[in-house]
Amino acid sequence: MRPAPEPTAPSLPDSPTYAALHAHARHARQWRLADLFRADADRASRLTLDAAGIALDFSKNLLQPETVALLADFARAQGVETLRDAMFGGEPINLTERRAVLHPVLRMPPGSRFDCQGEELVAEVQQVLQRMEAFAEQLRSGAWTGYTGRRITDLVNIGIGGSDLGPAMACAALRPCATPALRLHFLSNVDGHAVSALLDGLDPQTTLFIVSSKSFTTHETLLNAHAARDWFLQSGRTEDLPRHFVAVSTNAQAVADFGIAPANMFPFREWVGGRYSIWSAIGLSLLVAIGPGHFRDFLAGAHAMDEHFRQAPLERNLPALLGMISFWYREFFGTASQLIAPYHQDLGLFPFYLQQLEMESNGKEVTRDGQPVPMRTSPVIWGTVGTNGQHAYFQLLHQGTDLIPVDFIAALKPAHKQLHLHRTLLANCFAQAEALMNGLDDPALPPHRAFPGNHPSNMLLLDQLTPATLGALIALYEHKTFVLGALWKINSFDQWGVELGKTLATRILSELEGAPDMGAHDSSTAALIARAHAALG
Ligand code: F6P
Repeated sequence: MRPAPEPTAPSLPDSPTYAALHAHARHARQWRLADLFRADADRASRLTLDAAGIALDFSKNLLQPETVALLADFARAQGVETLRDAMFGGEPINLTERRAVLHPVLRMPPGSRFDCQGEELVAEVQQVLQRMEAFAEQLRSGAWTGYTGRRITDLVNIGIGGSDLGPAMACAALRPCATPALRLHFLSNVDGHAVSALLDGLDPQTTLFIVSSKSFTTHETLLNAHAARDWFLQSGRTEDLPRHFVAVSTNAQAVADFGIAPANMFPFREWVGGRYSIWSAIGLSLLVAIGPGHFRDFLAGAHAMDEHFRQAPLERNLPALLGMISFWYREFFGTASQLIAPYHQDLGLFPFYLQQLEMESNGKEVTRDGQPVPMRTSPVIWGTVGTNGQHAYFQLLHQGTDLIPVDFIAALKPAHKQLHLHRTLLANCFAQAEALMNGLDDPALPPHRAFPGNHPSNMLLLDQLTPATLGALIALYEHKTFVLGALWKINSFDQWGVELGKTLATRILSELEGAPDMGAHDSSTAALIARAHAALG
């Protein structure tokens, strides 16, 4: 790895805590991780913390306890704690949409209270949850039947973004807890290939669709829902639809306009952001799959992480540490991306989930005050299950020219009995972290066999991947994302950057279906439209 370049982004001129970090980073860029370990026999135990069933070993990072203290000073000066308390206090911190950010309320224990602007919210959350549970029990037991009286065997969640990634990821992660009585499917992409591939394998008599959309205006979801309804109506009748279509949304009117009755709608509130909505009725497919008890454990695990995040000092706070460490590399080592490497097959979708969580939240260039952010904001988040990655892109991690911090995630105990396979998996995980850190410096080796090392990583260890630890893991990354947004002073809870593409797609669609307006586009886009027009007529 080449030495990290001097940061080129403008620094914060009037921030003594940033200046202190900046000066400290000049030294840190010279450090060797192996030396830090040699100098401190207790480094690993000093820099490992546990919370809500997750152990975070952050010792293999280019930092010292002093670095953590300086990062925490900067975080306090940037108002991280104040903003955290404002979020948990129900203040409208999503300024551009004038909304509170209250997904943590969805995981508060039954019987607790949360008052916001004169309204108590927990009772309402619990009522919806009870309705979801009753529905899930009916599906799981076979009491809910299709229009010919046969039990439902296939459940299709139609949604995109946060209305897809959360349930799809969590259903895969908690597969061992899922009922074998139901097959789950997720339809998100607006692509006839995906729709036909799915529907061709289903029986309308035994399939139930959950149309999941916070806004219920998302083009992709509505088109796919219409395609599913048309497919259903080739066999069933209009009056059979309620046995085969339910909706999850905040928009009761749009759900009614689609033809789904209020009794078949599971609501949530607009203070739940799309990418934070797995805990709401958007989690319905997950609840059906794993059952009410496991779903409540999932919520409880997340709540335990909420409590930790609210109460622990930043220096000993897992989400704050993950956020501050990510900031440290992004700002002072010029890293452009962050690899998520789960060493757990069932967490295969977790990196994709985190892509939306982190990049849609923090891929922004203006502050909450509308000023340019004077720092680099969200890195690119990417990854796949670890051992597959080892045989694909780990070469670049070990011998490429970029510094790419890695989050390794593993569970100590498997959900199967093949212990040799599991030990092999863990051995690979630990070996990669060690190899990246220490490298191999043998003068007898030719240059192409050398490993420069000094590549940082976090190690996140769960005892076992369970509903509770998955809940805590997701909440950990939600709050990490929050901390990063607060450090950059950006609003992590809107997503205006997706709007322009949506508007242009609508305009281009009308041209693909009607007459192209060549004068309305640059020559490249006009030529693409012309080609598609010629091919499709
Ligand atoms: O991509 C923009 C976005 O609004 C996401 O934030 C959201 O998760 C997704 O679209 C789906 O939105 P909805 O749930 O309203 O269909």
